[in-house]
Amino acid sequence: MTGTTSRPPRDASESALVLPRYLRDPEEQRTPLAYPGYKSTALRAPLRTPVDLPHRLTEVTGPVLGEDRVVPTDADLTLRMGGEAQGQRIIVFGRVLDSDGRPVPDALVEVWQANAGGRYRHVVDNWPAPLDPHFDGLGRVVTDSLGRYEFTTIKPGAYPWGNHHNAWRPAHIHFSLFGQAFTQRLVTQMYFPGDPLFEQDPIFNAIPPAARYRTISRFDLDRTQDNWALAYQWDIVLRGQDQTPFETDDDGDVA
Ligand SMILES: [Fe+2]
Repeated sequence: MTGTTSRPPRDASESALVLPRYLRDPEEQRTPLAYPGYKSTALRAPLRTPVDLPHRLTEVTGPVLGEDRVVPTDADLTLRMGGEAQGQRIIVFGRVLDSDGRPVPDALVEVWQANAGGRYRHVVDNWPAPLDPHFDGLGRVVTDSLGRYEFTTIKPGAYPWGNHHNAWRPAHIHFSLFGQAFTQRLVTQMYFPGDPLFEQDPIFNAIPPAARYRTISRFDLDRTQDNWALAYQWDIVLRGQDQTPFETDDDGDVA
């Protein structure tokens, strides 16, 4: 110390830093926090109107994941515990883009899903579908310099979830994304085209009609692999007017 007095650190609002700003969704495009057909939202949705937080330094930055934490085998869910998973092998791939259509490199993309019989490997999932000893349903990958990601997995089965009589979730894969800032955090679900269960699923139908299609992947014949796997393409947009609909909380699923 030199004995000179120093001014207390300034907060971000006083600093000369020019912070990036992230677009907010228009209210009408947001998935509601409470949705009458989705029973558990009645207890967990806030009673007061949520307040949008200002974008300060904390919100416009994010964690540094570091290298080597995610390894290539993390992206192949079909080979676990010394064997091969049962079910229809599929490739799920796409790009993570920002609101201006620019690729988001180095984004952490994590997935979790039920097995081919529609069962999660989780202690509270005990409906009578078989567990697969070679499938844990967990995967992760980091996007490349062009924002691309790819998983090899099996197509998940539908499962009952008790929301209403004979309620079944459409086949889906849960996605969690960390982009370049906490404002680019996204938790959502990817569906498969033409699923006959869409119509009776309140989680899918809670999404505003104009945005539901963004959660449905596209079958891509060109990316299928002969004698090996089918392929589904799904691009994800973080923030902005073309944003993939957010989940406002977990959907009551296990794992
Ligand atoms: Fe689920």
